[in-house]
Amino acid sequence: MRRILRFLLHPWWIAEALVHPRRGRDYGIGLFAKLKLLRQIWRNSNQPGSASSFFEHVFLVTRLFEISKDLPGTVAEFGCYKGFSTASLSLACALTGRRLLVFDSFQGLPAPEESIHNFDTGLEVLYHQGQYTGTLEEVRRNVTLFGDVSVCEFIPGYFDATLPHRNPGERFVLIFEDADLPQSVRSVLLGTWKKLQPGCSFFCHEARDREVVKLFFDDRWWVETLGELAPGFVGSGAGIMSGPSLDWCCLGFTVRPARALQPPP
Ligand SMILES: C[S@@+](CC[C@H](N)C(=O)[O-])C[C@H]1O[C@@H](n2cnc3c(N)ncnc32)[C@H](O)[C@@H]1O
Repeated sequence: MRRILRFLLHPWWIAEALVHPRRGRDYGIGLFAKLKLLRQIWRNSNQPGSASSFFEHVFLVTRLFEISKDLPGTVAEFGCYKGFSTASLSLACALTGRRLLVFDSFQGLPAPEESIHNFDTGLEVLYHQGQYTGTLEEVRRNVTLFGDVSVCEFIPGYFDATLPHRNPGERFVLIFEDADLPQSVRSVLLGTWKKLQPGCSFFCHEARDREVVKLFFDDRWWVETLGELAPGFVGSGAGIMSGPSLDWCCLGFTVRPARALQPPP
């Protein structure tokens, strides 16, 4: 009921975000295809195994539709759980002619190495090894049923084991990281940041977790590991679509600048 109310309260937002003729024009995606996609996203994000919301899926898809068709690169998801965010992304990838790379251990979270605190409450967010497990078979089945599995490539394993073996020449146009732990976010940033096309977005689903958000402002870590200043983070603490009494958005993002931010000499 609460979800339906939220949906009904935000038609203007959905219209502006996705249905607006400008979105997806480059790819020839018309109104009918967008309405169909909205219905599919609604269904996917409301599945019992989805750990992300309708608005978050819509925001990701909208950003993908805004990317110039001529810009080469794939979409990458880090952390898929049961595959329902994957399903929505795969449908948008099919409409835009992009591949979707799905990175996950398929055995849940690794053992947490540090504590994490929620911005709103100040309380520790408790995670444990194996939490959010979705097996490769489950994910493949869900994406087959609810998405477009033909655009997906699944890369099983912990990020710090799989990412170093990727082709150095690969390029990303959108990254959706939803891996919860700061150690996992660091691995994703290390393995992908230089491959993200300038001007493109790195989405992170931990906008409400202090230790993750801090990473995006940690100049020392960025300069030591990636040779540039930290890019900052849109949505720090509350997510990009939050407001008073709204607790449903954990999504924030940063954009790779056209020219890397350098520390003063
Ligand atoms: C919160 S769930 C993802 C939820 C999903 N995006 C959704 O919207 O339903 C977190 C996922 O991250 C994966 N994960 C976290 N850290 C990882 C790591 N270092 N390597 C591989 N997978 C990891 C877990 O296996 C789990 O599937």
